[in-house]
Amino acid sequence: MAPSLREASPKLKDAMEDCREKMQKTISSLLPQTDLAEAPLFDAMRYAALNGGKRLRPFMVLEGARVFGVDQGRARRVAAAAEFVHCYSLVHDDLPAMDNSDTRRGKAALHKAFDESTAILAGDALLTLAFEVLADPETHEDPRVRVELIALLAGAIGMHGMVGGQMLDLIGEKQEFDVGTISRLQRLKTGKLIAFCCEAGAILGKANPAHRQSLRNYAHDLGLAFQVTDDLLDLEGKAEEMGKPVGQDAKKATFVSTMGVEQARARAEMLVEQSVSHLRVFDGGRVDLLKDLAYYVLERRV
Ligand code: IPE
Ligand code: IPE
Ligand code: MG
Ligand code: MG
Ligand code: MG
Repeated sequence: MAPSLREASPKLKDAMEDCREKMQKTISSLLPQTDLAEAPLFDAMRYAALNGGKRLRPFMVLEGARVFGVDQGRARRVAAAAEFVHCYSLVHDDLPAMDNSDTRRGKAALHKAFDESTAILAGDALLTLAFEVLADPETHEDPRVRVELIALLAGAIGMHGMVGGQMLDLIGEKQEFDVGTISRLQRLKTGKLIAFCCEAGAILGKANPAHRQSLRNYAHDLGLAFQVTDDLLDLEGKAEEMGKPVGQDAKKATFVSTMGVEQARARAEMLVEQSVSHLRVFDGGRVDLLKDLAYYVLERRV
């Protein structure tokens, strides 16, 4: 069987399960429950951040950190920050003014379970909390490391990152884009946060620039492959399995809508092979799970 067609390895499955369990605890501990009058905000944040999800981005942070021998407790804080940003992005993405999706992770979308204004505020608060967590000395004793993480995350998710990508995504509903622009759209809306996740371990571990660059290159290709498979699943996946609506993106500018299923899939496969090739610089099986993860991204059904 070609490597791109293999099932997720049992080792990867176990490691992802372990990551999900540990992240559930870390995320829960960072989201206090209160009986203050604004408690619905906390409840909504917990709903958004503790209701399932594959936790792929945390997994990238934890595995990247392992490559450089970084303390996993610290890595979990950074992983939680990345997941808070991801959850905020999903909450806002699902709003009626954006994708208007009523389900997420197999449950009612936050604006359905609560209401739209609470969903906007919970998203805002999750985003802000991410930076609060990174700025805390518990994340790393060296303030330069903390600032580097904060700056990289800010760059990844703001106007030149995820938010810019979401803007392009909306414009792409009304305007035709060429393949280069679609590629940029996807790198911004999805790829840059994934790149942060893959690079964060190198920052925490003060890795040498060449190693850091290799992880960045890995993430660059994997992030794009990830969004292509998300778009393929929007066409081919089942809403019950995905836990979110499907068939929504035909009107959007994606590789699938532009070049068709076969070519989009071939592109994703090529990108995954390319992403794995960037990990060659690491020896001794240190990056085996990151390699497995790349193939999983291709084969995932949810
Ligand atoms: C969905 O991301 C949103 C995209 C960026 C395509 P995931 O597929 O990682 O969603 P969860 O976290 O598992 O719910
Ligand atoms: C969302 O992309 C990317 C974000 C930045 C949230 P999609 O709109 O394709 O994500 P899903 O399919 O709703 O999860
Ligand atoms: Mg969207
Ligand atoms: Mg969406
Ligand atoms: Mg999608």
